Amino acid sequence: MTEGFDRHRRLRRTRGLRNMVQETQLSADDFIAPLFVVEGENIKNEVPSMPNVFQYSLDRVNEELDAIAALGIPSVMVFGVPGYKDACGSSAYAEDGIVQQAVRHIKERHPELVVCADTCLCQFSDHGHCGVLEDGYVQNDASLELLAKTAVSQATAGADVIAPSNMMDGFVVSIREALDDAGFAHIPIMSYAVKFSSAFYGPFRDAAHSSPSFGDRKTYQMNPANRLEALREADSDEREGADFLMVKPALSYLDIIRDLRNTSNLPVVAYNVSGEYAMMKAAALQGWINEQETVLEKLLSMKRAGADLILTYHAKDAARWLAES
Ligand code: PBG
Repeated sequence: MTEGFDRHRRLRRTRGLRNMVQETQLSADDFIAPLFVVEGENIKNEVPSMPNVFQYSLDRVNEELDAIAALGIPSVMVFGVPGYKDACGSSAYAEDGIVQQAVRHIKERHPELVVCADTCLCQFSDHGHCGVLEDGYVQNDASLELLAKTAVSQATAGADVIAPSNMMDGFVVSIREALDDAGFAHIPIMSYAVKFSSAFYGPFRDAAHSSPSFGDRKTYQMNPANRLEALREADSDEREGADFLMVKPALSYLDIIRDLRNTSNLPVVAYNVSGEYAMMKAAALQGWINEQETVLEKLLSMKRAGADLILTYHAKDAARWLAES
C-alpha cells in the first residue's frame, strides 16, 4: 500500500477484467423448472398470482416441456393438481395419479430431462395438510407410510429424483427404505430438509389448490426465527440418507443456505418460492424494477450464498436471458 488505501477499482476497470474475476456464475444447468400438471383436458390456466406460470393438462404440457428442454434446463419438479381428494390423499400414490401419469409422459417425450417428483400429501388430501389427521393433529408415523408409498409409486412411474416436502420426522429414512426394498436403491432423495413455515408460499397454494382447510403448518414446518434448528433438521436428513438438501424459501434464508454449504458436503438446492416470484413480477409489471436485472441478481445471490441448484419459476426467463447475453 503506497498511497494509504487499496485500489479495488483496478479490477473493475473493463468488462474483460470484471469477467475474469467474477467469482460466481449462473447457468441454465443450475435450474430446476417447476411444473404444475392438472387432471383434465385442454387446460392451460395461468395462476392469477403468478403471471406467466401455468397449470397444464397432459395433452397441453408438451409446449412447456419442449421450451424447457430447448433452453437447456436439465430438470423439472412435478407438482400434481388432482381431480380427486380424500382424507388420506390416495391420489398421491395411485398408479394412474396425475403425477405418475405426468412422469411417464415426460420420460417418454424427453428421456434426458431429470424428472423430480414432489412427494407430499397436501395437494391430494381433502383437508390440505401434508399428512394424515387424527383429532385435527397431523400424525407423524402414520403419514410416513403413505409418503413412502407415494415415493415408490413415483419411482415406479419413472421419476429420477424423489423430492419429499412434507416435513414429517423420519421421512427420509422411511422413503429410503421403501425405495430400496422396491428395487430403487439407485434413485436419489432431494430432501426439503429445511422448510420454513412461510407466508411466501401463498401463490403456490393458489396454483396447487393446497391451502390447509383449517389451521396452519406450524406443527411441522419450521419457525422462520430458527437457525440452529435448521442445522439440526439438515443433519438428521443427511444421516437418514438424503442425497440433496433443500432450503426453502431462498431469498430471506440465504444465511441458512450458507450455513448448510459450510457444514455439509451434499449438493444444496435453493427453492426460490412462489411469493418471491410474485413480488418481483408485480413490481416489474408496474415498471418499478428492471425484471431481467433484478431476477438475475437475486438468482446469482443464491449461488453466492452456496446453492448448487435453484428451483425457480424464473427458470425459463433466466435461461433465455443468459443465452442472449
Ligand atoms: C407442498 C409444497 C408447498 C410448496 C412446495 N411444496 C406448499 C406448502 O408447504 O404449503 C411451496 C412452493 C412455493 O411457494 O413455490 N408441501
